[in-house]
Amino acid sequence: DESRTGVKGLVDSGVTEIPTMFRHNPDPLPPAPIGSVSVPTIDLSLPRSVVVDTIRAASHEWGFFQVINHGIPASVIDKTLSAIQSFNELPPSDRSPYYSRSMTGGVSYSSNVDLYKSSAASWRDTIQVLTGPTRPDPERIPPVCRQEILAWDEHVTKVGRSLLKLMSEGLGVGPHRLEQLTIGDGKVMVCHYYPPCPEPDATMGVVTHTDPGALTVLVQDSTGGLQVKRTEQDGKCYWVDIDPVPGALVINVGDLLQIISNDEFKSVEHRAVVRSRDKSRVSIAVFLNPAKRGDSDFYGPLPELISDERPAHYRNFTMSEFMGTFFSKQLASKALTDHFK
Ligand code: SIN
Ligand code: FE2
Repeated sequence: DESRTGVKGLVDSGVTEIPTMFRHNPDPLPPAPIGSVSVPTIDLSLPRSVVVDTIRAASHEWGFFQVINHGIPASVIDKTLSAIQSFNELPPSDRSPYYSRSMTGGVSYSSNVDLYKSSAASWRDTIQVLTGPTRPDPERIPPVCRQEILAWDEHVTKVGRSLLKLMSEGLGVGPHRLEQLTIGDGKVMVCHYYPPCPEPDATMGVVTHTDPGALTVLVQDSTGGLQVKRTEQDGKCYWVDIDPVPGALVINVGDLLQIISNDEFKSVEHRAVVRSRDKSRVSIAVFLNPAKRGDSDFYGPLPELISDERPAHYRNFTMSEFMGTFFSKQLASKALTDHFK
């Protein structure tokens, strides 16, 4: 019998302690040492060869990078983030009609979509919109953020396509190779709202995970909370903050792209912590995936990356096998990629 007003509804009701179901076990990994390395920020207006090289290196070493001068005006970013915040801060009675876990019309609004698969609930509410290959029913998107969500999809699709070209070049394959796999035609947008929290350290915004798809394009507001796992040469691991850079997009490699690149690009674990007792946080992630999902559409390491010296690390599979494995293995400790070795 969940409320239809999300985690924000709990906050509105004035809770001073978080309910037990939101309590997470403390994470064993330490934060990054002060002054240590951070995820690279890449200026897309630099010469193309420089951009290709830095993206390739970041995708290999971090699985994450930020981009600036990507072509989406800062004003569009601000407007889009504000629109998501506005929806989540509407009176409960204006939000509850949209509350639904089913993706009717390609749109849902609910508290953590993975609720029934996780060991504890997370401190967030999410509008999820399926934007490709079929378009969502606009009427299902709340009017306060409808135009912004639809426009954001168009902006991100453009940036996503140019990143896929740059990443194809970084792999040394034809510039359209990743796009030819229809990556970027299958799209899901998740608009997260993390309400202020009376006990931020006791809960989690998004638990540790890798993104299953090909490429993720994320924008976050100035609050911060996204962290990526860094593994040092000696095997030591810690969490590195992905600090908000004004106007930047955060890009990360998903499991599918790790496989397609035959481990040249890495899909790295990350999470979102909750930072603030009095400030909300908004982030919007767009997951770019292949749209071709037939029984004869196979995905696996690109043949041109395979040689005697560099054999394929993975077998081929269909998207239905891949996503089926993702949904059935979500609670298992084994990485999704390991199921396709
Ligand atoms: C995610 O990786 O699923 C979301 C991260 C964020 O909110 O920054
Ligand atoms: Fe993620």
